[in-house]
Parts: sequence; structure tokens; C-alpha cells
Amino acid sequence: MTGNELREKFLKFFESKGHTIVPSSSLVPHNDPTLLFTNAGMNQFKDVFLGLDKRPYSRATTAQKCVRAGGKHNDLDTVGRTARHHTFFEMMGNFSFGDYFKRDAITYAWEFLTEVIGLPKEKLYATIFYDDNEAHDLWLELTDIPKERIIRLGEKDNFWSMGETGPCGPCSEILIDRGENYRCDAPECAIGKCDCDRWLELWNLVFMQYNRDEKGVMTPLPKPSIDTGMGLERVASVLQDVSSNYDTDLLLKLISYIEGVTGLKYRRDEKGFPFRVIADHARSCTFLVADGVLPSNEGRGYVLRRILRRAARFVKVLGWDGPFLCDMVPVVVELMGEAYPEIKEKQDYIRKVIRIEEERFHETLQEGMKVAGEIIAKVKQGGLE
Ligand code: ALA
Repeated sequence: MTGNELREKFLKFFESKGHTIVPSSSLVPHNDPTLLFTNAGMNQFKDVFLGLDKRPYSRATTAQKCVRAGGKHNDLDTVGRTARHHTFFEMMGNFSFGDYFKRDAITYAWEFLTEVIGLPKEKLYATIFYDDNEAHDLWLELTDIPKERIIRLGEKDNFWSMGETGPCGPCSEILIDRGENYRCDAPECAIGKCDCDRWLELWNLVFMQYNRDEKGVMTPLPKPSIDTGMGLERVASVLQDVSSNYDTDLLLKLISYIEGVTGLKYRRDEKGFPFRVIADHARSCTFLVADGVLPSNEGRGYVLRRILRRAARFVKVLGWDGPFLCDMVPVVVELMGEAYPEIKEKQDYIRKVIRIEEERFHETLQEGMKVAGEIIAKVKQGGLE
């Protein structure tokens, strides 16, 4: 199943359960100063959860563009090191605004994973917030997960909040055991204890119940609600039986493009790190520029500049001088332009913005090298005193 088919199946499944398909919101949360970038599907519904905004629907489903760089959820430095972290990724979600709660959220997730996309039941695990006995009993009652595969974890893993303040609540995650081959070397490699690729988190079901204020005080929401997030790239990697998100059809073309231009072969071990970073960053830069972010020295623009320059540094590591990332924009558009037409419409503009920033980076680098060269020459002339 391709990534695009998976996205479609998810949205259609929830539509068949009475959810309205709502388009992804911008990566720039214009009305929310607490947030740098959209980092989860629920962001655009924050005020609906809080009871401050009303929509004509009480159930929604989205494929949401997310960036997790800068801010509370920041994966920038992990990208490329693991098989599954990104600065940009797509989060599939279903939402209930005071409509259904834990029971239906669990039923829907189980049905989608095991019946619609056919994941093996015996490999799935559920984690729950340590004292959430209600969720525990529902997993037992509604699914085939036995009690040994329901794991109680603490606040760090199973209590989700979008930022320092705002809607939050206990959550329940669905993980898949990818098998011994994916096991890490840690002697204690076990579900809930180890974060390695063996225990792949697929879907987070958040039982939205509170609003946290600046002082950390939690007040109950007007109505208990549901917010879920399923990583599209991760589930695609399982369905396509590949070891990393970068090997799915959602990203592999970007890696192949880098291979084609540089003439270097991609390796799946740590030597492939630059390829993965460049592929990931090409997506985040394309989408951020499409949503109106420009490289600058502060705020969102600064994070974009950091991402872009990080990619440019790795392009250099691969032995390439000059703009590179800008020419990957059409590849990103080819892969994702149908689901997110804004990148297709603004393609030329995005390319130009990225090209200018790449050129600026190379100029800065050359100037820096010149100055460093002069200093070194002076030191050499004058000896080492
Ligand atoms: N908002 C939840 C998350 O991002 C679903 O994991």
C-alpha cells in the first residue's frame, strides 16, 4: 500500500464513521503565540477543545502537516540518526469534540489497524497512563490485546500536552513489535523501557480532559474529548515492510534523487546520515516556505534558516558545492503535491526562496574560509608565538 493510499484509507474510514474531513491547517499557527509551528493535528482545534470555538461538526479527521523543530516537541537533532524521526511529517488524526470518548476511540483505532490495513493483532501492544483503569479495561473488552500486552507508563510517556499551556490529558499509545531483527543492543530492550526501532509507536490516542494554565493548574475541559495522532510515514514503513521511514515511497524518491545527482550510493547505516537529513529537510523547507515562512534571524524564520543551513552543510559533506536543496522542491511536489496543492501552486516561489538562502549560505561560508585562511597565513608567517 502506498503512502498516498494509506492517507486516503484513513480519511475515508473516519468519514464512514461520521467524521468530517477537514483540510490540514497551515504550519504557521497564526492565532497561537504559544506555538512556533503546528506540531500536531489538534492544534487547529485547540479552541474547540477549550469550548471557545464551535464548528458545524463534532467529529473530524485530518491529515495534518507537522513540523517538530524548535519549541516543545523538537526532533531536529534526532533526524537522520533514527529510522523514524522527522522535522516534517504527516499526522493522521481523528477528533471528537465532546462527542465520543475512550470507548469509541479505542474501537475505531483497533478496527482501522487490524481490519482496514490488516496489521497482525498478535504484534500490537497498548500503553496506558499508569492509573487509567478505564482504558485498561476497555482495551481488554474491545480488542484482542491480552493484559500482558497492556503496559502502564508514567506522565513522560502517557500524558500528552501540546505545549506548556493548553489542552492536555492522559493518553494511550498503540505500538507494534517489529521483531528481534530490530532489537537494539541494550540488555533491557523491552516494551515501555526501550525507545529503539523494535517497539515502534504507531498511534497516540489522547483522552483530552484538561486545560493547563501558566501556573500548571489543570481545569477540566467543558466536555471530555478525543485527539489522536498516527504517524503516516511510520505506518507506511510497517505496511511496506521496510526498516525505516526513509525507505517508504513517501521518502525514497528523495534519497534516490540525492544518489542520482551526487553519484554516491545511499547506505542504510550511519554512513547514510547526510542523505536522510537532506531528504527530511527538503520536505520541511518546501512546506515551511509554502506556508509563508522566510529565512531570517529570529523566530520561525530562524528555525527555517537553521534547518536549511543544516541541510546545506550535509550537501557539502557529500562533496557538492552550491545550491542543491532548491532543486529537490519538484521532487517533493511530485510526491506530495496532490495531497497538499499549495506546494504545487507555489513551486517556483519556494525554489527561489530556497536557492537564495543556499547561495547566501555559501557566500558566508566562503567569506569565513577566506578570513580563516588569512589568519592561518599570518600565524604561519609570524611563527607560533
Ligand atoms: N496530539 C497527539 C500527539 O501529537 C495525538 O501525539
